[in-house]
Amino acid sequence: MNPEPQLYLPAARSTQAGEVDMLFHAVNTMSVVLFILICGAAGYFVWKYRRRPGDEKTLSTPTFHSPAVEIFWSVGPLLVCIGLFHFSTRQYMESRVAPSDAIPVKVRARKWAWEFEYANGLVSESLHVPVNKPVKLTMQTADVIHSFFVPDFRVKQDVVPGRYSTLWFQATHIGEDQIFCTEYCGLSHSDMLAKVIVQSDEEFQKFLDYDPWAGKEPVEIGKELFEKKACGTCHTLDGTPKANGGPSLKGLFGKTESFNDGSSATVDEAYLRESILVPSAKVVKGFQPIMPPFQGSLKDNEVQGLIEFIKAQKL
Ligand code: CUA
Repeated sequence: MNPEPQLYLPAARSTQAGEVDMLFHAVNTMSVVLFILICGAAGYFVWKYRRRPGDEKTLSTPTFHSPAVEIFWSVGPLLVCIGLFHFSTRQYMESRVAPSDAIPVKVRARKWAWEFEYANGLVSESLHVPVNKPVKLTMQTADVIHSFFVPDFRVKQDVVPGRYSTLWFQATHIGEDQIFCTEYCGLSHSDMLAKVIVQSDEEFQKFLDYDPWAGKEPVEIGKELFEKKACGTCHTLDGTPKANGGPSLKGLFGKTESFNDGSSATVDEAYLRESILVPSAKVVKGFQPIMPPFQGSLKDNEVQGLIEFIKAQKL
């Protein structure tokens, strides 16, 4: 395996790259050898059996059938094809089935960017992975078909609207590898790039533990999240409830809300927490259960920040 780019192949920097390259070289070498043999033989026979003066009188009876030759050129290529099929199928199966201990990463494709989300909720524009560990990507697209391609790893997978597709790899070298979109997806298709950043276990753990909110007050975190998650699309801060939206957040804390099921409750921290994580649990009278749940996509300090931000919206 060559961790650096070669004459006509990119660097081979995953566990799958070696076998893919072996198959590529096998097919390529066979093609070159057969090309030389076939064209060489054709040229040689053209020259050897060229017409010479007096040939008309000495035409021989040509041989039309030789069982030995027929068997040789039927069985030979058949064995070669079976061999190629065997190795290709094995490689394909290996590339489709991720090891059970693979690190899961969610991939979201959209026009024209990649986004990577880790199990702890961390979202990144680069795909950080630890070296020598299997990583499994579960990919979806927000719009059209894209295709995830890392030449250095020899892995490629379409990301198709309306379904999840998966891909796994194990990087073998610390460093950076290029991600391309390799399905024409519109104007900026060629700009739909990202990097795989292969790190040591320690560096990767540091990346996972990165806290974007370090040193910020909860109410600031809440304010930033309110904007980032576009909560304002449905919840105003000026006291007027939005039609086809949700209750205003102004003066919400401490108020008694009535719900669609006839019950009522005082708005406290526990109620806000539940309403952010599982909004359908208690739907305020007169509104529809249209808010998406944030269970699993907000960290504890983020929920706390939003609660503090809502508490700060006093009448
Ligand atoms: Cu996405 Cu091309």
